[in-house]
Amino acid sequence: MDFETDLLNLTEDALIIRDFDDCIRFWNKGAERLYGWREAEAIGRNINDLLQEKLAPSFDGALRGDGEWTGELHQVTRDGRKVVVRSSVKVKRDKAGYPQCVLICNTDITQSKTLERQLLRAQSMATLGKLAGSVAHNLGNELALMLFSTRRLEEKEEDAETRRWLEMFRTGAEHSAGLIARLLTLARGSDDDYTQLHPQHVIREACEILHGVFPKSIEIRTSVPAGLSPITGNATDLRQVILNLCVNARDAMPDGGVLSVEAENNRCASGHDRLLIRISDTGAGMSPEVMTRIFEPLFTTKAADRGTGLGLFTVQRIVTSHRGSIEVSSELGRGTQFKIYLPASNSGLGLKSGGTAHAHEHTF
Ligand SMILES: Nc1ncnc2c1ncn2[C@@H]1O[C@H](COP(=O)(O)OP(=O)(O)OP(=O)(O)O)[C@@H](O)[C@H]1O
Ligand SMILES: [Mg+2]
Repeated sequence: MDFETDLLNLTEDALIIRDFDDCIRFWNKGAERLYGWREAEAIGRNINDLLQEKLAPSFDGALRGDGEWTGELHQVTRDGRKVVVRSSVKVKRDKAGYPQCVLICNTDITQSKTLERQLLRAQSMATLGKLAGSVAHNLGNELALMLFSTRRLEEKEEDAETRRWLEMFRTGAEHSAGLIARLLTLARGSDDDYTQLHPQHVIREACEILHGVFPKSIEIRTSVPAGLSPITGNATDLRQVILNLCVNARDAMPDGGVLSVEAENNRCASGHDRLLIRISDTGAGMSPEVMTRIFEPLFTTKAADRGTGLGLFTVQRIVTSHRGSIEVSSELGRGTQFKIYLPASNSGLGLKSGGTAHAHEHTF
């Protein structure tokens, strides 16, 4: 029996035996790991109470019938975590055919379930993105038409007051057209082309988008001087880095605050030139526990309809493929600062323009 128990403890799966009063008779190490209950605590307990199982209606019928059932179960662990398992259940009978106990093998599929859901969400987001892109496109055309007509009307109109109204109309339409044009550039997505680019254009463009869409309670301060070192990279990707960081900053300041976007030339300890982009907010900040996880894919502290947890993961991927590095500092209740360092084109460390980026771990 010892041999067998050792063997049963080797598997990651939770192997459980229960009797017909739902009382637990056997509980392997896999079950201890999955549910957090020690063997001594679990034996003798009612399994449905212990794991807060919601059994499928087919379950009892199947056990009474051919004595086998396979399906998904939702359970709760000792520390209150919800888990989903794929459960295979079989009734064990004695030689005379009387049911003796129920053998259970539960495989933890919580993570793949979450991934599946996230993937479905990401796919529908991509579809939505395309839809938004085509709406923006049509809207852009309509706006161009409106702008054209208003300008003609303004030229013809002699009454000063009417001209003022028309001018207001035109300014609004121009503003919207600009916004739409920038959205369209974003929706086109990234190509893998690395070229030499002037960061001030990219950063200023991103900030203009923010001015158009962020609430007025957030003050956006920018310091993007001329004369920043050119870098080799992809403009769409870089814009995404800045926007992702700024959107996170906005989310951290639901009651408003200051968002600063600053860029400057910088030299690292080994003497190589690099560009520093600093994005800081005066928002909620992060606890050290949250800080250690922010770059994990799918890690989010936001409600399911607000965050996918892919923002910083993407930021890190882009920065790494530009051979750059990221520094974060944050204080709960005070705010957060992200520093992005990117090698200057002339530093000898950056990418050759036109070359393909490989996700190098190289930081400097
Ligand atoms: N500026 C910030 N201030 C406070 N917390 C932040 C800040 N930026 C990131 N975080 C924390 O890091 C987590 C991960 O951020 P990330 O951008 O990867 O995902 P998300 O914003 O939750 O979702 P997504 O960006 O995919 O919509 C956030 O949920 C939040 O808890
Ligand atoms: Mg985010």
